[in-house]
Amino acid sequence: MERLCAWLLSLFLLSVCPGAPAESPERSGTLVVYFSATGTTRAVAQQVAQYLGADLLEIEPEVPYTAEDLAYYTGGRCDQEQDDPAVRPGMRSTAIEMDRYDTVLIGYPIWHGQAPRIVQTFLESYDFAGKTLAVFCTSHSSGLGSSETILHASVSDTVRWLSGRRFPSGASGEEIRDWLDSIGLTPAAPVTGVLDLESRTVLLNSGYTMPVLGLGTYALDHETCIQSVMSLIENGGRLIDTAYMYGNEEAVGEGVRRAMAAYGVSREEIFVITKLYPSQFSEPEKAMDMALEKLDLGYIDMMLLHHPGAGDVQAWLAMERYVEEGRIRSLGLSNWYVEELTEFLPQVHIPPALVQNEIHPYYQEKDVVPFIQGKGMAVQCWYPLGGRGYTRELLTDPTIVEIAQAHQVSAAQVILRWDLQRGVVVIPGSSNPEHIRETWTCSGLS
Ligand SMILES: NC(=O)c1ccc[n+]([C@@H]2O[C@H](COP(=O)([O-])OP(=O)(O)OC[C@H]3O[C@@H](n4cnc5c(N)ncnc54)[C@H](OP(=O)(O)O)[C@@H]3O)[C@@H](O)[C@H]2O)c1
Ligand SMILES: Cc1cc2nc3c(=O)[nH]c(=O)nc-3n(C[C@H](O)[C@H](O)[C@H](O)COP(=O)(O)O)c2cc1C
Repeated sequence: MERLCAWLLSLFLLSVCPGAPAESPERSGTLVVYFSATGTTRAVAQQVAQYLGADLLEIEPEVPYTAEDLAYYTGGRCDQEQDDPAVRPGMRSTAIEMDRYDTVLIGYPIWHGQAPRIVQTFLESYDFAGKTLAVFCTSHSSGLGSSETILHASVSDTVRWLSGRRFPSGASGEEIRDWLDSIGLTPAAPVTGVLDLESRTVLLNSGYTMPVLGLGTYALDHETCIQSVMSLIENGGRLIDTAYMYGNEEAVGEGVRRAMAAYGVSREEIFVITKLYPSQFSEPEKAMDMALEKLDLGYIDMMLLHHPGAGDVQAWLAMERYVEEGRIRSLGLSNWYVEELTEFLPQVHIPPALVQNEIHPYYQEKDVVPFIQGKGMAVQCWYPLGGRGYTRELLTDPTIVEIAQAHQVSAAQVILRWDLQRGVVVIPGSSNPEHIRETWTCSGLS
């Protein structure tokens, strides 16, 4: 009950913060903030943010500047503001969470040799202690000059201040990248292993993208397996999990080929996972050739080691060679936990893109899931519904049923949605086209 309460709480929290994987590690980022009255600085800021993969925020004045205000040396609004260092023009409020950023770049036009006073308003509205800051400006001809020194002096001593840069109107991407590279700000590596529920995909550390919801095929006999695979693909599903041990790799291949022809789906859209069993680790090449032949889909999207066992590292190194040759695209592990991973990872060259372990509401793996995700690897769960023939207890659990009734969905949908919100990829097994349709269309993703 205690576990279910915690689970309920996380479900609730996620419903108010959609898209945030509950147990994924916090990641700090870069924010590009800019003020631009006539668009020149905006164009530079957009390029900076695009290069760094940073978030972009515009400082918007409460009272917009008119053309008359901007006409300088006329004694108008801008001239008056810049003449008085104490002026702090109001900004429109933003919902920015500054804690999420460890690096902030601030762009502005030069107004009478200085930053517009509203930039000071922005700087004084947040605590930048411990962050890295850099400024950039655009102008007719003036440099950053004392604008940078004055802004620097107004922030906490604990700010790491990087050398700023002035850009002309129409600055090239190359000039901007040169500056960022010179101050050590380089594009962040793409975040891998984190589910994107909008696109229903996860970017793997192998560079490939995998669907987050699919079909497990354990214990499905030949004909049933073909039908289940076809139902999945007909309903929009693209991810299928099989294994040498399940004895149905041929049926998975057959189902995929038939579905591609029937529903006009290309091979590239489908993602097939299979596994080498420990009894095959001593002859991995033979085992992989057999899997390629049985599936008969050209290449294998992902190959897992099914369980730890004697010769697993050697088998993995052989799998790495198949990746280099393009016969397998991504590698992963199954039934590897913190201790096994800690021992395994230093012995291989290609890190696993995914770890598939038993996870469901009665077996939540609260330590293992964030450990794996923290290494940029995707987590996938087997037995999401408690396992073939053992689903009754989970699907009739009073708490789960209560949530299902409240949301007018099925108990299975509640469980699968819970996994997805924790950042865990799901592959429920099913021989029933109705269940497959329900799973794919109604797990809260559409
Ligand atoms: N790596 C490993 O060691 C390992 C171990 C076990 C499993 N796996 C993988 O994980 C997959 C999932 O595990 P699993 O298939 O054993 O168990 P599961 O997905 O937890 O449960 C499958 C059971 O749930 C039922 N079910 C599916 N969708 C349902 C729905 N919408 N409503 C009600 N019942 C539903 C199925 O019945 P119907 O057939 O009637 O739909 C079946 O009896 C396997 O198929 C396999 O690919 C991996
Ligand atoms: C009030 C005001 C004062 C300006 N003062 C200077 C200046 O001192 N030196 C300079 O080179 N450009 C000056 N400019 C020109 C702007 O810095 C330049 O056009 C800038 O690129 C505009 O950026 P934005 O389009 O992002 O607002 C001034 C512009 C305004 C509106």
